[in-house]
Amino acid sequence: MSQSGRPAVLGGQPVQPAGPPPWPAADPEVARVLQQMAADGSWGRYHGEFVPALTSQLQQFLDCEHLLLCSSGTAAVELALRGMGVGADDEVILADYDFRGNAGDILALGAVPVLVDVLPGTVAIDCALVELAISPATRAILVSHLHGSVADMPRLRELADRHSLPILEDACQMPGATVYGRQAGLWGDAGVWSFGGSKLLSAGRGGLVYSSDAAIIQRARLYNQRGNEASPLSELQAAVLLPQLARLAERNGLRSSRAGTLRGLLQEVDGLSLLPKADSGCEPGWYKTGIWYEPEAFGGLSRNQFAAAMRAEGFALDPGFTPLHRQISRRRCRLAGSLEQAERAGNQLLVLHHPVLLESADQLQLFVQAAERIRQWSAEILRNE
Ligand SMILES: Cc1ncc(COP(=O)(O)O)c(C=O)c1O
Repeated sequence: MSQSGRPAVLGGQPVQPAGPPPWPAADPEVARVLQQMAADGSWGRYHGEFVPALTSQLQQFLDCEHLLLCSSGTAAVELALRGMGVGADDEVILADYDFRGNAGDILALGAVPVLVDVLPGTVAIDCALVELAISPATRAILVSHLHGSVADMPRLRELADRHSLPILEDACQMPGATVYGRQAGLWGDAGVWSFGGSKLLSAGRGGLVYSSDAAIIQRARLYNQRGNEASPLSELQAAVLLPQLARLAERNGLRSSRAGTLRGLLQEVDGLSLLPKADSGCEPGWYKTGIWYEPEAFGGLSRNQFAAAMRAEGFALDPGFTPLHRQISRRRCRLAGSLEQAERAGNQLLVLHHPVLLESADQLQLFVQAAERIRQWSAEILRNE
């Protein structure tokens, strides 16, 4: 093996010496509005033109009248659950493979997370298991679209309607995605977005709840309103989101095309594969692309060792979520059946951070090159651990 090919984790030159592209990316429109705000003092005001403008742009984008901007995706999930009337001792069903804060929100309400498994080979909630998990205490279903895949919303909607249960549809990872012909979030009784610092639309922090049911948003708003708004989105945040929202559809299109390229490239790479392609009528968002990892194909390197070696090569590849049942005390949640598939995802899933998907397709070739280099040197990487 030539020394020039030595992986970065063993002291070689990284395949991508510049490292992952920065996020948020430099944006002249954002720079312009920040300068304007610095000059006229609007950055420091409680109220101004930007939050109303963002509200109206979002109403148009989502074709949804009722919405509430707030301080984070985590706050949005809590507000939406409150808007649906979830309270102490109620049960909320969600997938065991989900964002930790979602279970945290349920617990913050004094309610009980009921954890169900995901479908084999995916991170999508298993609708059949959701139905089996329903009890007299069930008050809502929380479903997230994760890692470039979507949940089966028509099926979930049908069963939720049969049981008269509201759905909270978490689209924090995919603003602007299409799920079985609808905007992500609109199959649910409420949908949520995050404007966190790593997200596709970023204001450092921030969130959104939207619903076609005025009463849900009204209850969330009343809870948030204490004579002063408890979890507001600021003028400054709204101002930097406006130009990004204007370009969201175009950027989602590019990310989607690059994700397709990556899917094709990985078909030739032993031991790495994207989560299954979404059904027709779906155009998922690509915040963190989910990639299955097989340690045997990489000489027994663990998933975490492989991710660390890829990061050293200059790619933002990380382990996926830890299943919720491993993070929450058994006394505080209910495990509805085996969580084997979520456990597998917790052990074997990698996620690739999105900024590389806005770069040229060559970067994805380099990603594959880095993976092959690590495979070639896996024995030595293991010896050096
Ligand atoms: C699926 C999902 N829901 C909710 C959130 C919470 O968003 P925030 O970080 O804005 O609180 C995240 C954040 O990564 C997420 O991935």
